[in-house]
Amino acid sequence: MQWFNDFYALIAKTKLAPWLNVLPAQLSHWYKDALHGDFKQWQKVLDHLPKTQTTQVNLQSAVAIGAADELSDGARQRLEVLLKQLMPWRKGPFDIHGLHIDTEWRSDWKWDRVLPHLAPLQHRTVLDVGCGSGYHLWRMRGAGAELVVGIDPSQLFFCQFQAIKHFHPDPAVHLLPIGIDDMPELKSFDTVFSMGVLYHRRSPLDFLQQLKNQLRPGGQLVLETLVVPGDAQTVLVPTDRYAKMRNVWFIPSTAALELWLQRIGFTDVRVVDLNQTSLDEQRATEWMQNESLVDFLDPTDHSKTIEGYPAPLRAVIVATA
Ligand SMILES: C[S@@+](CC[C@H](N)C(=O)[O-])C[C@H]1O[C@@H](n2cnc3c(N)ncnc32)[C@H](O)[C@@H]1O
Repeated sequence: MQWFNDFYALIAKTKLAPWLNVLPAQLSHWYKDALHGDFKQWQKVLDHLPKTQTTQVNLQSAVAIGAADELSDGARQRLEVLLKQLMPWRKGPFDIHGLHIDTEWRSDWKWDRVLPHLAPLQHRTVLDVGCGSGYHLWRMRGAGAELVVGIDPSQLFFCQFQAIKHFHPDPAVHLLPIGIDDMPELKSFDTVFSMGVLYHRRSPLDFLQQLKNQLRPGGQLVLETLVVPGDAQTVLVPTDRYAKMRNVWFIPSTAALELWLQRIGFTDVRVVDLNQTSLDEQRATEWMQNESLVDFLDPTDHSKTIEGYPAPLRAVIVATA
C-alpha cells in the first residue's frame, strides 16, 4: 500500500518509530476490509484524477492548490464531476486549480478561532484526532508544522484527503484511517488537536486520557467541542438525539470541561474561544446537499435545537500535558 509506505519510512528513525510495531498490521487489515462497495468506487475516482503541474500552493490563508490556468476549462469540468462522486464534502473549503469545493462547513473559520492560541507550530510534530477530510491538516502544515498526522476512521474522508493530496503530495502531511483506540501510547507529539470529537465519545474522560497519552510532557492539547452554559457540575446528556445526531453523549459546560482536564492531569487549562455556530458556518451547499444546521434547529427559535436543547455552542480549550 503505497499510501502508507512513505509514512512508515518517514517515521522509522523518529520518536514515532514505536508506532511501527502495530500500525502496518492494522492498516493492512483495514485495507482488506475496505476493498468493497463504495470504497472501490472512490478508488476509481482517485485513479482518474488528472495529473497537473502545480506551481502555486497556499496553505496559509486557505487550502488553495494549483492555479486555474494549469487546467483547461474542460479538464476542470471533468474534475468537478469526479470530485462530486466523493460527496458529501463536509469540511473545507478547498480550491483545486480554480475549482472551488464549497463544503458544508467553513472549517477555515474554526481554524481562525484556533490559530491565535497555538504554541507556534514550527518544528512541531502534530496529531489531529478525528481530522475528517483533513482540511485542518493542511492549515497546520501551512502554519509551519514539520510533520502533520491525522487519524480518522471514515473511508470517505480518507478518499477525500487522498484526492486533495493527489494535487499536492506533501510528504509531511498524512491521514491514517484508524481511530484513537487503535493508537499505542506514543507520548511523543508536540501538539495534539481534537476538534469536534469529544461529544461523540461514550467515555469522554477516557478519551481525554487517550489524547494525553499521545503528548510528550509539556506538549499542547487543543480541544474544540460543543459546550452548554453552566457550572462545573453541568453536563448535558441528551435523552435521545442532539441536533438530530444519534451519537452525541456528553456536552459539558466549559467549567466542567476544565475540571475534567485538570482531573486527567493537564495543567494551564484555558478556555480561549466560545462561539455560537451560525447558519453561515454550517449550511447545505452544492457539495453537501443533505440537511444541515438550519434543519437541526427549532424553526421558531434558533437558540434551541429541534429537540429543545441549547443550540450548538463551541469552545476551544488549550492545555498542557
Ligand atoms: C465532527 S467531525 C470533526 C472533523 C474536524 N476535526 C473538524 O473539526 O472539522 C468528527 C470526526 O471524528 C471522527 N471520529 C469518530 N470516531 C473517531 C475515533 N474513534 N477516532 C478518531 N476519529 C474519530 C469522525 O469520523 C469524524 O470525521
